Amino acid sequence: MIALGLLVPRTRGEDVRQELLDAGRLRPDLEIRREGEFLVLPLAEGGGSVPAAWGEIVEREFQEVARRGPARYRDLLDWPDAEKEALPRSFDVVGDIVLVRLPPEAAARRNEVGEALLRFVPGARLVGLDRGVQGAGRLRQVERIAGAGSWRTRHRENGLELEVDVEKAYFSPRLAREHARVAEEVRSGDEVYDLCCGVGPFSLTIARRGRATRITAVDANPEAIALLRTSLARYPFGACIAPVPMPVEAFVPTATPVERVVMNLPREGIKYLPSVARTTAPGGRLYYYEVVPRSELPGRGNVLVTSLSPVGSFALADQRVVHPYSPSSDLVAFTLERSG
Ligand SMILES: C[S@@+](CC[C@H](N)C(=O)[O-])C[C@H]1O[C@@H](n2cnc3c(N)ncnc32)[C@H](O)[C@@H]1O
Repeated sequence: MIALGLLVPRTRGEDVRQELLDAGRLRPDLEIRREGEFLVLPLAEGGGSVPAAWGEIVEREFQEVARRGPARYRDLLDWPDAEKEALPRSFDVVGDIVLVRLPPEAAARRNEVGEALLRFVPGARLVGLDRGVQGAGRLRQVERIAGAGSWRTRHRENGLELEVDVEKAYFSPRLAREHARVAEEVRSGDEVYDLCCGVGPFSLTIARRGRATRITAVDANPEAIALLRTSLARYPFGACIAPVPMPVEAFVPTATPVERVVMNLPREGIKYLPSVARTTAPGGRLYYYEVVPRSELPGRGNVLVTSLSPVGSFALADQRVVHPYSPSSDLVAFTLERSG
């Protein structure tokens, strides 16, 4: 059928797809078209104009999405409606692993939920009950509720295949847009520190763009660094990444300032913020992630800037909610630019 679409370069396709999805502007009943180095994303009507920077509006012939069974995993369960509705609408997919959080009242029937998700998600091999991340290592507590095999998988995001072990090192598929956004900001010749790098999604996404001269990826969890090494061996551009299995507090005292610093340790990172800020060169940017109570959100960026005044002159270049973290808090990305 003929419909309106947004023509975007393939390299920006995942970013723009997410933006449209969030804005309720991606048409779910039509397939995305591939046209050489471009994608055409089918546009839902209404909801105001789409920012010109996202792409060019075009008219195209689209294929309708083939219907494959029920639209929701919950409809695969032969449960009373009220019990089905109490189940979460969303779940995470990491490679061929599905992770779901369940309310306590559904715990006794978790295997049934697992089997439903295994049937519902195309290509799913294993379903885990996600009990959240814990400790400084942010290790995920997972319990197998359906399927088979190990927690190790390959996750695709931003055109990369990342080696992930859901149990042994932190990874969240909800940060894909942040990985891409920060990579997009890196300028030609920049040097980068990716502190608390985990399995290295920031480092690899930045390296793939090809503008950074060197990326030092630091994490205290040796398992995370080993997974990063496996991923980067797959790509020629991995050569510019230096993985360092080391706590950030041991790395930063001897680090010379660089143009881009990423620190994603949202619960405890504040302890290291002043020393990490010292490693940001004048004119450079520090990408700092924090879990912030919603009531404190409006002024939090300026509080951070003020707290860094003994270190140098920083300004808040950007502050954005990445995703809700709890009923009363959000994961927030702060971009702090150093002028002196
Ligand atoms: C929230 S994860 C972020 C991972 C990665 N940046 C990403 O976007 O997927 C935090 C990471 O910090 C690491 N970590 C925790 N404390 C640390 C420390 N003191 N020094 C270095 N790494 C640390 C953990 O091992 C974990 O991989």
